[in-house]
Amino acid sequence: MNNHRTIIALALAGALIALSGPAFAQEHEASPPPRVKWSFAGPFGKYDQAQLQRGFKIYKEVCASCHSLDMLSIGSLADPGGPGFSQAQAAAIASEYKIKDLDDRGSQIERAGRPADHFPAPFANELAAKAMNGGVAPPDMSTLAKARTYSRGFPWFMLDMFTQYQEHGPDYIAALLKGYKEAAPKGFKMPEGGHYNEYFPGHVIAMPPPLQPGQVTFDDGAPATIDQYANDISAFLVWAAEPHMVARKRIGFQVMIFLIVLAGLMYFTKKKVWSAVH
Ligand code: HEC
Repeated sequence: MNNHRTIIALALAGALIALSGPAFAQEHEASPPPRVKWSFAGPFGKYDQAQLQRGFKIYKEVCASCHSLDMLSIGSLADPGGPGFSQAQAAAIASEYKIKDLDDRGSQIERAGRPADHFPAPFANELAAKAMNGGVAPPDMSTLAKARTYSRGFPWFMLDMFTQYQEHGPDYIAALLKGYKEAAPKGFKMPEGGHYNEYFPGHVIAMPPPLQPGQVTFDDGAPATIDQYANDISAFLVWAAEPHMVARKRIGFQVMIFLIVLAGLMYFTKKKVWSAVH
């Protein structure tokens, strides 16, 4: 009996410590990102082609001067389920890039890009990237939308499984891009070269606010606001990190249907096979 009580008491104490943990770290805790309505959320979610094209334009005109996008080939802009550029458009975009290569004799040359080339990096290496950005290298963007999430804590992470909430990454990136503050709150010690951001863990980010209103002009008439930019580039980064998401969701759904039908067939088979045994 006594043993039982000790175990229950210990379990309760453990649960309390686990639950109150986040409260101790509250002081410099980043705010939870607001949730954005994404076209690709949910089991039937699809990328919005126009949004991906706008996002690519922002990447190309703004982010690419600091961030690499190593894992993506330029030609994948024309892949099905993506931004919907034609092969010819992707080839034209590729040809605007200068790619370092070797010629037949092994000397270094620069040539026009081809669809199979990956997006060239803005800095020669990590050291150069650091030197140019106040000591912090801008991370590669290929998987940022999957690599950056935030902790929702108990009980949200349990509920997220059931509600299929998987958009932590883009919600965080969009919030980060909108979350710069002109000045840090009173009494906040801001290190030199730091920028105050409401959503960055610790609040001090080395990236200067990259987006300004009116900076990128869209052909489709979408507003030239930070809000629009932040959502479009975040959607583009989700696609870059997971170009085959639409196919994955479709196959997942088909598998579920298959399993339901199979379960039904198995049930009737079982009934028939065992019907003779009474
Ligand atoms: C002037 C250079 C520069 C530009 C332009 C720039 N960034 Fe950054 N970015 C940085 C640096 C430096 C960091 C690393 C910040 C740190 O860790 O303190 C960073 C980090 C990030 C992060 C990761 C934050 C984290 O949680 O670690 C994201 C996301 C990001 N940038 C998105 C963007 C997007 C989107 C654009 C284009 C709209 C962009 N950046 C343009 C320099 C830049």
